[in-house]
Amino acid sequence: MTTYQQLQAHLPTEPRTWLITGVAGFIGSNLLETLLKLGQRVVGLDNFATGHQRNLDEVQTLVTSAQWANFSFIHGDIRELADCQKACVGADYVLHQAALGSVPRSLEDPITTNSANITGFLNMLVAARDAKVKSFTYAASSSTYGDHPGLPKVEDAIGKPLSPYAVTKYVNELYADVFARCYGFNTVGLRYFNVFGPRQDPEGAYAAVIPKWIASLIQGEPIYINGDGETSRDFCFIANVVQANLLAATTQNPDSVNQVYNVAVGDRTTLNELYAQLHSNLLPGCPHLQDTQPVHRDFRAGDVRHSLADISKAQRLLGYVPTQRIGEGLALAMPWYIGKK
Ligand SMILES: NC(=O)c1ccc[n+]([C@@H]2O[C@H](COP(=O)([O-])OP(=O)(O)OC[C@H]3O[C@@H](n4cnc5c(N)ncnc54)[C@H](O)[C@@H]3O)[C@@H](O)[C@H]2O)c1
Repeated sequence: MTTYQQLQAHLPTEPRTWLITGVAGFIGSNLLETLLKLGQRVVGLDNFATGHQRNLDEVQTLVTSAQWANFSFIHGDIRELADCQKACVGADYVLHQAALGSVPRSLEDPITTNSANITGFLNMLVAARDAKVKSFTYAASSSTYGDHPGLPKVEDAIGKPLSPYAVTKYVNELYADVFARCYGFNTVGLRYFNVFGPRQDPEGAYAAVIPKWIASLIQGEPIYINGDGETSRDFCFIANVVQANLLAATTQNPDSVNQVYNVAVGDRTTLNELYAQLHSNLLPGCPHLQDTQPVHRDFRAGDVRHSLADISKAQRLLGYVPTQRIGEGLALAMPWYIGKK
């Protein structure tokens, strides 16, 4: 039995209260679904900046009414300390996911990204510290590796940030570290690498590549590949991210806290390979794709060229064992995307 399987068996016997910030978003709503199914009580905080009520409605359809009754929602903003304090009342574990994602969004509007991702993060740290929660797990990012050329990425070797978004995620780590040193407040940061799965928003200028390409292929719209297509990413299915959060929040190992961890699979997929996989997955149901070819355009500012995680630290200290590689994750996520269009 893996550590995660043991945890899944144990949690329903001892329900706890979990605060998920960003609960109406992609990752937050998947955490919500899993925790409710495990019989946990969940408080969710969101201001719907990029999240949607439809994500919460969908989770409601996937759990029993008794499980859904264990969820309470606070419509609030992490930039407001009072909202963070209200959300932390009675919380055992905090999973802090709320932030403005997207490198291009941060290049367009660094001030708004800064306020959500840094001021909001600091508010949550203060509120969670004062509420004396058992643990504080937060969404960090692979963007923190910046211009460091090393591959695979190892937690201790980071470079300079390449975008305002990456600065904010690095500052989160610095604040988390300082809260441990100055206040003895323990945290765990999870550096996600290109997460994908159901409820990841395919719409809008800042959509992530997998949902955007699937939606465009289904609709017969052109696919744009930034650069030569040999840019690579370690695409991580959402179930792996949920697992990492639950393991991090509940770890009893003192060596495992006040750390950051890569959360990925340890596989590298180029954009050209990703396109080929999506195209062949969708072709049987979408004959209009028979002769479709992607369009290459300029590289995008702020993007790192290659991303591949060394996940051995999370394996060693958290017992993290990814359950899906990219192909398996895409097979699981595809019905959701097809059902949406
Ligand atoms: N998806 C990825 O590949 C990825 C990779 C690295 C890091 N992350 C991080 O993971 C976290 C979740 O990302 P996601 O992909 O689910 O994005 P998402 O946009 O779907 O979810 C973010 C949620 O936070 C909420 N939010 C934003 N600002 C807020 C504020 N001021 N107050 C309250 N709620 C606010 C949004 O409304 C949304 O529901 C973010 O911190 C993101 O930076 C994601």
